[in-house]
Amino acid sequence: MKFFIDTANLDQIKEAQDLGVLDGVTTNPSLMAKEGIKGKNNILKHYVDICNIVDGDVSAEVIATDFEGMVKEGEELSELHNQIVVKVPMIKEGVKAIKYFSDRGIRTNCTLVFSAGQALLAAKAGATYVSPFIGRLDDISTDGLELISDIRLIYDNYDFDTQILAASVRHTMHVIHCAKIGADVMTGPLSSIEGLLKHPLTDSGLKQFLEDYKKGN
Ligand code: E4P
Repeated sequence: MKFFIDTANLDQIKEAQDLGVLDGVTTNPSLMAKEGIKGKNNILKHYVDICNIVDGDVSAEVIATDFEGMVKEGEELSELHNQIVVKVPMIKEGVKAIKYFSDRGIRTNCTLVFSAGQALLAAKAGATYVSPFIGRLDDISTDGLELISDIRLIYDNYDFDTQILAASVRHTMHVIHCAKIGADVMTGPLSSIEGLLKHPLTDSGLKQFLEDYKKGN
């Protein structure tokens, strides 16, 4: 299972990268705005800065919602760095753009996916990744993990190459359930990755080991 971090914060990306388990980064316009990154040139530079920190894929989202605009922006983004994956929303024009990019070897992440039907369309169009937003479904009393299971079943039925990128992950149990279901990737905040470290028996066990060592030395 690949671990992506869902942030545009360079310090958090460095921290996750230093842990040695990071496989990539996802961003979106809201995450860029949260870091105060504004204006086209600053945004493009920020993507390159992120690519220079991590070894894996970095999703960069198009802003246009028409086919021609998405193609123009996506081509520009993909030329920025070979780690860039063009993030395209699950709308009609987006499906056309994903197919266009797929035919030209440009990798895509189909974002804002909330149903199995949308995920099936994204795979048919040739998306590299599909991003079902599990946290946002949970927020409206709908089981986000059930959607991941449904997509896994559908993709396995037909051997689709599209990777399931469980997005809008909020906490460690989302990560663990996604791993059990067989999501290919998860993207979440740094806390969802570092939280996996924690267990009180590890802490008390280590404390005891160190105390016993001191007694004998
Ligand atoms: C996915 O790529 C999105 O950036 C993200 O996971 C959205 O998460 P949120 O629902 O926590 O905003």
